[in-house]
Amino acid sequence: MDAFAIKIRYGLIHLVFITVLFFLSSDAPSQRLNLKKIFRDVEQQTDVLINSLNKQKKENIGLMMPRTLENGKLKLVKSSDWTSGFFPGVLWQIYLYSNKNFWKARADSFTRLLEEEKFNSRTHDMGFKIFCSYGNAYKATSEKYYKDVIVQAANTLTTRFNKKVGAIRSWDHSRDKWDFPVIIDNMMNLELLFAATKYTGDSTFYNIAVQHANTTMRNHYRPDMSSYHVIDYDSLTGKVSKRNTHQGYSHESSWARGQAWGLYGFTMCYEETGLQSYLAQAEAIANYLIHHPKMPRDLIPYWDFDDPAIPHVSKDASAAAVMASALLRLSTFSTKNGYLYKKTANKILYNLSKYYGSPVGENMGFILLHSTGHAPAKSEVDVPLNYADYYYLEGLLRTKRIVK
Ligand code: GLY
Repeated sequence: MDAFAIKIRYGLIHLVFITVLFFLSSDAPSQRLNLKKIFRDVEQQTDVLINSLNKQKKENIGLMMPRTLENGKLKLVKSSDWTSGFFPGVLWQIYLYSNKNFWKARADSFTRLLEEEKFNSRTHDMGFKIFCSYGNAYKATSEKYYKDVIVQAANTLTTRFNKKVGAIRSWDHSRDKWDFPVIIDNMMNLELLFAATKYTGDSTFYNIAVQHANTTMRNHYRPDMSSYHVIDYDSLTGKVSKRNTHQGYSHESSWARGQAWGLYGFTMCYEETGLQSYLAQAEAIANYLIHHPKMPRDLIPYWDFDDPAIPHVSKDASAAAVMASALLRLSTFSTKNGYLYKKTANKILYNLSKYYGSPVGENMGFILLHSTGHAPAKSEVDVPLNYADYYYLEGLLRTKRIVK
């Protein structure tokens, strides 16, 4: 065989090898997300949900947003519920994908139902409620009305900040247990504050967000990079007094959604500030999650990584959706691990779409099944949840850079 023939042969072997590798990877065509089909189904499902809602709402004044399914019916919540912003957010995301004015009108009318929350200072959940609804509305339309609501909401949220602690108080309930509880979920509310500084030029919001993130980074994380759920502070001295859980298996366990909130929160903080410490934190959390020995092969975590009954416990698709969305964002910042994060996120989204989705026309119109809300209270175990749907759609839109 002459030298040319040998070169051709090696070239062909190389090509076959590369092709096999390509098909084995999660980016292979067989595992590629079919966004067109997914969003066609999502539009149909959301029609089903709105029809179910219209039927049920008449019986429940004040209960307006679908949160989950309970006893075969929609569980509706008031504007003050922490999950009230997700359904309007889902509608905005469908509009962002489809560009159909019909969805914009629906998104707008559901968003406006939440306006009074801009004055609600009794909880930290302002970001979830107002930024997932009004925040998306403003991104989609640039209308001043939405921006003004966001700024007022941010002003209200800052009233919960304690300088001594260097954090925003999460809950007002359970005062017998906690003095100044801060939960890892609270990282998600900081995006609203960063936005308010951008809209107004007032750095107060930004500074509070940074102090909160720094305090959380200092006190919420264990050496293995898992996060506690609740840190209780002494409101007078600012010292940590308790490290607890509320929704996890135990105080020392790793509650799956809490880990995902932290990953998302520090990724967003890096994006908003450019501070390297947040990028390092987000990468360390990502690596903890991706390489966790109890992470199932399909990358949809069990509700708590430390439940001793794994694998005979419920999963949490909502944690997976938050994680996928955050990893996609993080992949654009991380030079070293960007490819791994993107590949992992795509695999999660693919598995959610293929194995965790509701058949069209069923489950009253929710998109994903198999999430876990509050297992220790035996509440919302293995059910659809509006925030799983919200972060799933956000992740899908991020794969195409339709949202950042
Ligand atoms: N913020 C409450 C939860 O994640 O369930």
